[in-house]
Amino acid sequence: MIRTSAVGAVLAALLATACQAQTEGAASMPAPAERGVAHPEIWPAYTYPVELGDAAEARVAGIVAKMTLEEKIGQLVQADICCVTPAQVKEYNLGSVLNGGNSGPYNNDLAPASDWLKLADEFYAASTDKSDGGVGVPAIWGTDAVHGHSNIIGATIFPHNVGLGAMRDAALVERIGAATAREIRVTGQEWTFAPTVTVPQDWRWGRAYEGYSSDPALVASYVGAMVKGLQGAPEATNQLATDKVIASTKHYLADGGTDNGVDQGDSSVSEEELRDIHGAPYGPAIEGGVATVMASFSGWQGVKMTGNKSLLTGVLKERMGFGGFVVSDWNAHGQVAGCTNDACPQALLAGIDMYMAPDTWKAIYGNLLSEAQAGRIPMARIDEAVTNILRVKQRIGLLDAPKPSARPLAGNYALLGAPEHRELAREAVRKSLVLLKNTGVLPLKANARLLVAGEGADDIARASGGWTLTWQGTGIDNSHFPGATSLWTGLEQAVKAAGGIAQLSPDGSYSQKPDAAVVIFGETPYAEFQGDRPSLQLDPALTGPYETMRKLKAAGIPVVAVMVTGRPLYVNPGLNAADAFVVAWLPGTEGGGLADVIVGDATGVPRRDFSGTLPVAWPRTASMADGALYPFGYGLTYAGGAKAWTALSEDSGVAQAGDERLWFSGGVPASSWSFNIEDPTRSGSQTRLTTVPAEALGGRATITATDFQVQEGARRFVISGGQSAVTLDNLEPVDISRETNGDVLLLFTIKVDDAPDWATLSMRGGGTLAVTPVQLPQGGGFVRYGLPLKCLRDKGANVAAVSAPFILTTSGKADFAIGEVRLGTDAEVVLPCN
Ligand code: BGC
Ligand code: BGC
Repeated sequence: MIRTSAVGAVLAALLATACQAQTEGAASMPAPAERGVAHPEIWPAYTYPVELGDAAEARVAGIVAKMTLEEKIGQLVQADICCVTPAQVKEYNLGSVLNGGNSGPYNNDLAPASDWLKLADEFYAASTDKSDGGVGVPAIWGTDAVHGHSNIIGATIFPHNVGLGAMRDAALVERIGAATAREIRVTGQEWTFAPTVTVPQDWRWGRAYEGYSSDPALVASYVGAMVKGLQGAPEATNQLATDKVIASTKHYLADGGTDNGVDQGDSSVSEEELRDIHGAPYGPAIEGGVATVMASFSGWQGVKMTGNKSLLTGVLKERMGFGGFVVSDWNAHGQVAGCTNDACPQALLAGIDMYMAPDTWKAIYGNLLSEAQAGRIPMARIDEAVTNILRVKQRIGLLDAPKPSARPLAGNYALLGAPEHRELAREAVRKSLVLLKNTGVLPLKANARLLVAGEGADDIARASGGWTLTWQGTGIDNSHFPGATSLWTGLEQAVKAAGGIAQLSPDGSYSQKPDAAVVIFGETPYAEFQGDRPSLQLDPALTGPYETMRKLKAAGIPVVAVMVTGRPLYVNPGLNAADAFVVAWLPGTEGGGLADVIVGDATGVPRRDFSGTLPVAWPRTASMADGALYPFGYGLTYAGGAKAWTALSEDSGVAQAGDERLWFSGGVPASSWSFNIEDPTRSGSQTRLTTVPAEALGGRATITATDFQVQEGARRFVISGGQSAVTLDNLEPVDISRETNGDVLLLFTIKVDDAPDWATLSMRGGGTLAVTPVQLPQGGGFVRYGLPLKCLRDKGANVAAVSAPFILTTSGKADFAIGEVRLGTDAEVVLPCN
């Protein structure tokens, strides 16, 4: 085909540039042996500001000299509270514990604040117990307080970092850090795995919202402020006698630079780009005296960071002068070449000081010990790592501190969600709002009749996003946020206070015509890898509110769209449909900040203007390659006046892709997957389920369509007797090892009207069938069950090559319907691993 059109010429030019970029990329890629090897001399040098002084250094050296090899190895290991007891912390002299996103005290992720403090005391007591003749170094507890003390019910939840990036206000960032530190101190932890100083370049990455901005300079301008808010002045010591904690800048390095934005993926950028973009925040972190750095899961030029000596030791420690300790990420050592989750001396040799070995700590401890005994790890490296950790413990006063509950602020539960902290969060919400469109409807008149629509309008969990109470931010509702204000409640309060009337109507229906409508829409919560997307498209299942906007507008009602989102997405239909468009990012618990800006006074005079600007360019289509609709730094204000609108193209540029994590939904398997039924006792009895109704197993099974979420969205199986296996198979085996390492579940939604005699759930991976018995009681409607992938792995499924992730085998007469099969964390019922 010969293209002569202008469009064709533009396309050709674009393609040429793309090819050129690729060739250039390839040209700058070093030869295989040189890949992933950094050159420290081209990196900047900094001065680490912390001086312990001779007496303290001598004290640390004295402790190290007294430690047995076992005690030293213990210091290097961090276990998750899911999988370690205080008695084990004592026995193995572990240096640290953490709570992962899904772990809480006493196996309760939603435990009350007092339980966190109680458990902190237990770990402290265990680790300092010297009855066995050991040195008794207190363990340090790390937590992901990434937007406030975000694992704790009742804590203030600040906007996620992307929203803070929109504020351009480092002073406020520092105050947020200080408030977060105070709330952490209430429950006894000493260490937060924050701030994330990633510089995301591809926002399809599901963790992009954990970063402040795609702009290295903006990120760098915040780092010192956040570290100072959390830890105190750069040179500060004895934090535990005050209201501070220690920070961890993460994830070193280029977590936001992976190719195609794949979480835990690989970045093929040049060393210069690595330094200038992704390395930029580490200068201010080091000059700010950050106590710890967390290594990234990801890799650079094919080499995983956790095993990259040139970057961890050569660049970070030796060249840039970082003087704290380096912790690895959640079993990330298992991804280093030649390593497994249970064995990885390579990480220590590369420069990791502490292993985050949540559920693998015992094996890692054993492996490090035997490697050291065999002389394969030099004692000098072990002593150095222990010294780095002890220096931090000495610095913050942990070696002399009383038990957590006896330290300043501990047990002062009124500080969790204290009014002054909430006010700070509300200020951050106001300042983070970015106005993309306003043809004049904003500000709203306070005494108006206001309709507030959208499923997310009164959903604080949705406004808070991932890393909120639970890992993915799923499975929680407004009842888990005492004292919080949803976006809806904030609007209602503002309107009511001025004598107006507000009505919440998720679907936008109304009985009396409102003066204006606010439609709240956008993303639902996600975190690591669950949030990765193939394009910058809003999940089609979440675009329903566009129709609500159009309907309201057609009825002559001015519409304000408010988008809750972790990232910029192609939302042109929403931009076109609404009269004003506000990006609220992931605002957290203080939704009142939205009303502060979009609701004016009774005459429509603004009470506060917009000041937020985009921390990342907004895309024109769902593909980055098509360029920006709004550049970095864009944002309208009231002062700038209303702006006329020219309709945008509503071609997203990419195919309407559904959620590719749905393996079976809407009655159909995902493409390249198939849904089958067979008699497990007879080989060759498999029938592929395509059209319904159908008969299989020689007439023993009847398969029909039934409703779930959408019409005919489920498949119903009526089985008259005998054994049957319903299986979801794929053509190409899938690798779900990453999800298995995280606490991801195999989810299936099922309605059981007649329970079989028995049922098992299995997975086939690498030729092995892992089987676990399951109880599926009959009655009630559809229930979303989840089975931990870890369970299936432990039963022998090779999770790196799964050919049939879901096999439901039943025996006897049965009647059940399957609505959905996918991976996720939001089970209604978690099945035990039998
Ligand atoms: C994440 C880190 C987090 C850690 C502990 C990891 O999977 O990548 O950001 O700090 O888990 O929850
Ligand atoms: C934990 C997270 C961790 C993730 C790693 C989850 O089970 O709760 O904290 O970041 O696994 O993939």
